[in-house]
Amino acid sequence: MKMSEKLNIVIVGTGYVGLTTGVVLGYLGHRVTCVDQDMAKIDKLERGISTIYEPGLEELLIQSAAQVKFTKDLLRDLVDAQVVIIAVGTPAKENGDTDLSYVEAVAREIGMAMDVLKPPLIINKSTVPVGTARRVETVICEELEKRGQGCHFSVASNPEFLREGSALYDTLYPDRIVVGANDINALNLVRQMYAPILEQTFNPPQSVPRPEGYSLPALVSTSPTSAELIKYTANAFLATKISFINEFSAIAEKVGADIVEVAKGVGLDRRIGAGFLKAGVGWGGSCFPKDVRSILFTGSQYNCEMPLVQAALEVNRRQKLKAIEKLQQLLKVVRGSTIGILGLAFKADTDDIRESPAIEVIKTLLEMGARVKVYDPIAMKKYRQTYADQQVVYCGTAEDTASDADALVILTDWDEFLHLSWAEMGATMKNKVIVDGRNMLDREQLQQAGFTYSGIGR
Ligand SMILES: NC(=O)c1ccc[n+]([C@@H]2O[C@H](COP(=O)([O-])OP(=O)(O)OC[C@H]3O[C@@H](n4cnc5c(N)ncnc54)[C@H](O)[C@@H]3O)[C@@H](O)[C@H]2O)c1
Repeated sequence: MKMSEKLNIVIVGTGYVGLTTGVVLGYLGHRVTCVDQDMAKIDKLERGISTIYEPGLEELLIQSAAQVKFTKDLLRDLVDAQVVIIAVGTPAKENGDTDLSYVEAVAREIGMAMDVLKPPLIINKSTVPVGTARRVETVICEELEKRGQGCHFSVASNPEFLREGSALYDTLYPDRIVVGANDINALNLVRQMYAPILEQTFNPPQSVPRPEGYSLPALVSTSPTSAELIKYTANAFLATKISFINEFSAIAEKVGADIVEVAKGVGLDRRIGAGFLKAGVGWGGSCFPKDVRSILFTGSQYNCEMPLVQAALEVNRRQKLKAIEKLQQLLKVVRGSTIGILGLAFKADTDDIRESPAIEVIKTLLEMGARVKVYDPIAMKKYRQTYADQQVVYCGTAEDTASDADALVILTDWDEFLHLSWAEMGATMKNKVIVDGRNMLDREQLQQAGFTYSGIGR
């Protein structure tokens, strides 16, 4: 096997992870088939239109078009596949456990159609609890047995660490690639798939240049169980780091310190690092909330208490309501007031609103009897589709949102909000009050424009 040889790869699940991975692997020269059960997604992708907002993705989609095809039909393309990557969703159940029904459904389909004479390597990229690589193997074997076939294939675990908003960058220039495999052939095939990234032999796309000083990523080779746990450990740590600075933002407010300066002074310590030390209205998104709850569920199954992670979750629950507390302090009466919300996405540069702090804040404001106006540069369509019943006023611009408002609340750190003309916007408001839930604005500039400014922990 030559490391430079290109592979036939099938990716099942064409969401944030599957689509990014597919497009990048295609760009690197592999022949990729992206499968999704959602026909509307496949239709759009076939026409070269991205189904998610991710900077640079649409350009790369066009550049890799010859290498990547999209289909709804897994069975047909499985025949030639050397690698099948599972990248479907793994949402949380009510009790915090992970819903593996999508993963298992894919495993069953693979077992029904796999060519037993040339079995592909199955790679699990979805975030899944420990033991899932084995579970996938069992499900595929059950289907093979029904076909009277033996069980000769491997399942490797290859957790994904990309961040929405910089998904292409993270995939092309990762810090590390983690592979959990029980046999050397499986490991070598994963190594071959990622060879252009591990060795950085590709020409960087124009929209995602290689960062200066980037050093080759490590390949962490381990057992499937450790690989699965690495993903949860990483996400629980990052979520805890944010909750940690959020907890300190409360004491900063009490003693009259500025958490932005505190975080800067702390983050310059290389043992700590500056990332994930931004105080704000709490973490959300499609990963941290469900992954934190999932590892707590696993802990409970093993009678293993995880008080630190539990506390991170509790701090975050309270943090999401900080914006409401601040509005109550500043306006006194929220009922009957008009509140403008700037930002619906759980963070900037994505259209993902899953578990976004905005959801909780808007729901609470509506329950309190406020009139709520909202604006987000990208995520508004998704929010409107998901919360069609909510009585909120959708605005075309940040300026429209400000008009007649008693207060503005920033919930997503979109760059666009840095460049607004606050003096002009303030002139159209009933009260010049702003709650900066992401500590992103220049407090002095806002105060000079006549605003009462309230950040988080400052
Ligand atoms: N989004 C992230 O930033 C991120 C980062 C790292 C890891 N992950 C993990 O990666 C996994 C996927 O996340 P995502 O955000 O890409 O999910 P997503 O919801 O955006 O996409 C999942 C896709 O799988 C498709 N699907 C479901 N069942 C299918 C089936 N049987 N056949 C074909 N397609 C099927 C869905 O239609 C959907 O398009 C999750 O386990 C998640 O935790 C996500």
